[in-house]
Amino acid sequence: MMSAMPKIILVGCGNMGFALTRGWLNNGWLKSDIVAVDPSDSARQKVTDLGILATEKISTDPQADIIVLAVKPQHLGETLPAYKQFLNSDPVFLSIVAGKPIVFLEDILGKNAAIVRGMPNTPVSVGKGMTALVKNKMVKKNQMTASEKLMGAVGRATWLEDESLMNAVTGISGSGPAYVFLIIEALSKAGVNLGLSEELSGELALMTVAGAGELAFKSDLSPTELRRRVTSPGGTTEAALNVLMRNEELVDLFKDAAHAAADRGRDLA
Ligand SMILES: NC(=O)c1ccc[n+]([C@@H]2O[C@H](COP(=O)([O-])OP(=O)(O)OC[C@H]3O[C@@H](n4cnc5c(N)ncnc54)[C@H](OP(=O)(O)O)[C@@H]3O)[C@@H](O)[C@H]2O)c1
Repeated sequence: MMSAMPKIILVGCGNMGFALTRGWLNNGWLKSDIVAVDPSDSARQKVTDLGILATEKISTDPQADIIVLAVKPQHLGETLPAYKQFLNSDPVFLSIVAGKPIVFLEDILGKNAAIVRGMPNTPVSVGKGMTALVKNKMVKKNQMTASEKLMGAVGRATWLEDESLMNAVTGISGSGPAYVFLIIEALSKAGVNLGLSEELSGELALMTVAGAGELAFKSDLSPTELRRRVTSPGGTTEAALNVLMRNEELVDLFKDAAHAAADRGRDLA
């Protein structure tokens, strides 16, 4: 069967690469649309089990509309030169490598290479990821569509006007899942403090965060409106929110945390 989906070479099939591959296969890509490259036997085995052709090194054979770079940051520089051979067929290079700016790839691939940089987050592994994308001048409309489609297969994807916003994105959606895990932990500890068992409190906290997240995701109402609607005057929720919203302390804490992540991202670039 012929497929209308962009042909992919996936470079690096670790955690992210594997999650992406599963998302693509669940969203209309054929196994034959994807070729994976990874020196690690165990990483290759995982995608081979999905029916994907995986090789230790890239060969000249595969045709690709899009080359997805999902290696660790310290491996990107040594990995890229082998892919210059594909420049003649004008693919788009989509890098999800954290902290490596577009100019890093241009320095190796050349200024004429079409390059998209993406910052996904870990919920891509359950199809609920958030990816911010930014591109260089060489990326064509159809390559933007292909990039969006690829990252949209594991959640949502949106475009940034300016690459300098990538550190802010890192501070919110990139590192954000860990903040939410911390909220689950904190809520669970609060339950134990009220006399609940660790097990019960952990379950209540986990399901509350998962359920409220799903509700906010599916609702047409804003989180602010949803919060107002569950806060009866003089009720229990209001009593708790009066503490949590005291002097904007929680908002300020999140601002400081996100700033710290963004600053660290800038330092690491
Ligand atoms: N995980 C996240 O939440 C997240 C979020 C945003 C961005 N990212 C970015 O996504 C990238 C991948 O992260 P990950 O967590 O998936 O890392 P990972 O699990 O370590 O996967 C990277 C894979 O690339 C392989 N590799 C090394 N050199 C290669 C080469 N020359 N050609 C092909 N494959 C090669 C590695 O093999 P070896 O193990 O043998 O080296 C490994 O299997 C990173 O750059 C990270 O910054 C991750």
